[in-house]
Amino acid sequence: MATLMTQKHSLGVGLVSVGWMGKVHSRAFADLNSVYPDLPVKPRLVIAADPEPSRQEFAIEALGYEQATADYLEVLRNPDVDVVSICSPNFLHKEIALAAIAHGKHFWLEKPAGRSAAETAEIAAAAAAAGVKSTIGFNYRNAPAIEHAKKLIAEGALGRITNVRGIFFADYSSEPNGALSWRFKRELAGSGVLGDLMGHLVDLVQYVVGDIAEVTALTSTTHKQRPIQQMGKGTHFDVIEGGPMGEVENEDYAGMLVRFTDTGYGSDAVGTLEASRSLVGPRARYELEIYGTEGSFIWDFERMNEMQLTTARRGQELGYRRVMASPGMGDFGSFQPGAGTSMGYDDLKVVEARKFVEDILGLAHLNSNINDAVASAAVLAAAEESAATKSWQTVAPVAGSTSAKRKA
Ligand SMILES: NC(=O)c1ccc[n+]([C@@H]2O[C@H](COP(=O)([O-])OP(=O)(O)OC[C@H]3O[C@@H](n4cnc5c(N)ncnc54)[C@H](O)[C@@H]3O)[C@@H](O)[C@H]2O)c1
Repeated sequence: MATLMTQKHSLGVGLVSVGWMGKVHSRAFADLNSVYPDLPVKPRLVIAADPEPSRQEFAIEALGYEQATADYLEVLRNPDVDVVSICSPNFLHKEIALAAIAHGKHFWLEKPAGRSAAETAEIAAAAAAAGVKSTIGFNYRNAPAIEHAKKLIAEGALGRITNVRGIFFADYSSEPNGALSWRFKRELAGSGVLGDLMGHLVDLVQYVVGDIAEVTALTSTTHKQRPIQQMGKGTHFDVIEGGPMGEVENEDYAGMLVRFTDTGYGSDAVGTLEASRSLVGPRARYELEIYGTEGSFIWDFERMNEMQLTTARRGQELGYRRVMASPGMGDFGSFQPGAGTSMGYDDLKVVEARKFVEDILGLAHLNSNINDAVASAAVLAAAEESAATKSWQTVAPVAGSTSAKRKA
């Protein structure tokens, strides 16, 4: 074991923002060597930045960073930092990503990459010009059931894909007095549930099925005012009793009809995609249903380690089989030796960290990259335009994305 560890190169990690995602990224780096012992690097948590002093203290005491600072530029300037996790609120993503690129640091950036398609494209262009590698936090791709569905579709096991149904339904702002965090302000977040949850769903269907070519959408806001929450305090799940109220400036719900490009399984795949952050009932019901001429697949993140599958059209026992994720599906076997012992949300980020590191080392290019963020943002921008103009919008394919492609 000692030999295994001494053969590894140190990988200096810097973190910007010690909120929910900052903690999850840090735990992912800390777990990398135990989950993937053959990875030839050993992460070293060098420095974390957050303006909130209690979060700087947490970074050192709980997460194990050597130093902490209020100023993210100190992270980027640190010569021991090789890669940087950017886990700040959306309004800082472009500024910090461009600064990371200017300092030649590969970055793992949370979604949505920019507040708009234009900001996202700006980050992509700068990264390409500087030859800096990126990974985007589209973690649901890494669920073993999703990787299995992608493989089944690529092998033709579901036949020609005819339609897709996706819902990303959460309840984090179902309370009318749920906190008015930065997520509800246009200047700080950009769009609402579109950038927050629909962006994940769009990335997921583009990764598994193929590029979306046409969109029509509508949006609505359930609760128009909420109690104001101070930046850096609490989480967006908090409920605040009393206190001053502020305006919700973006949408709680978005619904879309989409048409996919021809990915080689037929040119007529269509879909319905919905997302909401303020429903009563679903906790994190992130569900993907994919229907083909030979079979279908159903997955729900609330039951992440299982899927409903059918690949038969005839016979007396038509219907779904409940299939558990197991070694051989995605990275399941790196975490658990047998089916039935579940992986969790944090594990998806460990997989994402592996893909990020492997891309940087030139070992594999399996990660979601900034072009995937551009591709997702383009669909969301088309949805916003569609909702505003009550029209269908076309979406151009994005070069360099890792969406499911047309068969050779
Ligand atoms: N991939 C996913 O599943 C997922 C889940 C949640 C959040 N996210 C994304 O992660 C990002 C962060 O979300 P979160 O829930 O962790 O937010 P959060 O509100 O929990 O934390 C944000 C942190 O940023 C800090 N911050 C504010 N200004 C800063 C500055 N100038 N420099 C450095 N830090 C600053 C705050 O003090 C706070 O600690 C968002 O873009 C969000 O969309 C992704």
